[in-house]
Amino acid sequence: MSETTIDPAAFRKVLGSYPTGVCVITALDGEKPAGMVVGSFTSVSLDPPLVGFFPDKSSSSWPLIEKAGHFCVNVMGSDQQDVCRSVSAKGDEKFVGVEYVVSDHNLPIIRDAIACIECKLYSVTEAGDHWFVLGQVLRMETVREDDPMLFHRGRYGGFAERM
Ligand SMILES: Cc1cc2nc3c(=O)[nH]c(=O)nc-3n(C[C@H](O)[C@H](O)[C@H](O)COP(=O)(O)O)c2cc1C
Repeated sequence: MSETTIDPAAFRKVLGSYPTGVCVITALDGEKPAGMVVGSFTSVSLDPPLVGFFPDKSSSSWPLIEKAGHFCVNVMGSDQQDVCRSVSAKGDEKFVGVEYVVSDHNLPIIRDAIACIECKLYSVTEAGDHWFVLGQVLRMETVREDDPMLFHRGRYGGFAERM
């Protein structure tokens, strides 16, 4: 069976037709927060309660989160563009100006995230140039009933209902 060649630019363009929500995955690296923005977050299983996302193998933040063995999924509200821009940047200044509290599970919870889902690392599976990460939910909370941040073709936006 021959493998079809897929042009990377076409792959990005076609897959970019599909919008995503925006979450910040956080953990503690010693005393310091580590984090990355993901659009690949998804709910996976109810029994056991599992959620997942796909970190790029080139991510410098993912190994810190993996080492922590726990992570928090902070679901971004449509008014949290500053947090998304800051945490998606590479380097040591991701959390400058980002307010958070540390939970009983020792996880940074970002202020005003619309929901937070605290997880224990369940599995990490190779998936091409990404990892497929599953977390088992330890605690979850809807913090506020506001609209989520959405991401589409490189732009942040909000939800608009069609009547
Ligand atoms: C809206 C949005 C969604 C993203 N989704 C993912 C994702 O699902 N997986 C991933 O590895 N990186 C994703 N990124 C990129 C990371 O947030 C981050 O820029 C990257 O991990 C670089 O930082 P790091 O080296 O600290 O990990 C996304 C970025 C944005 C802005």
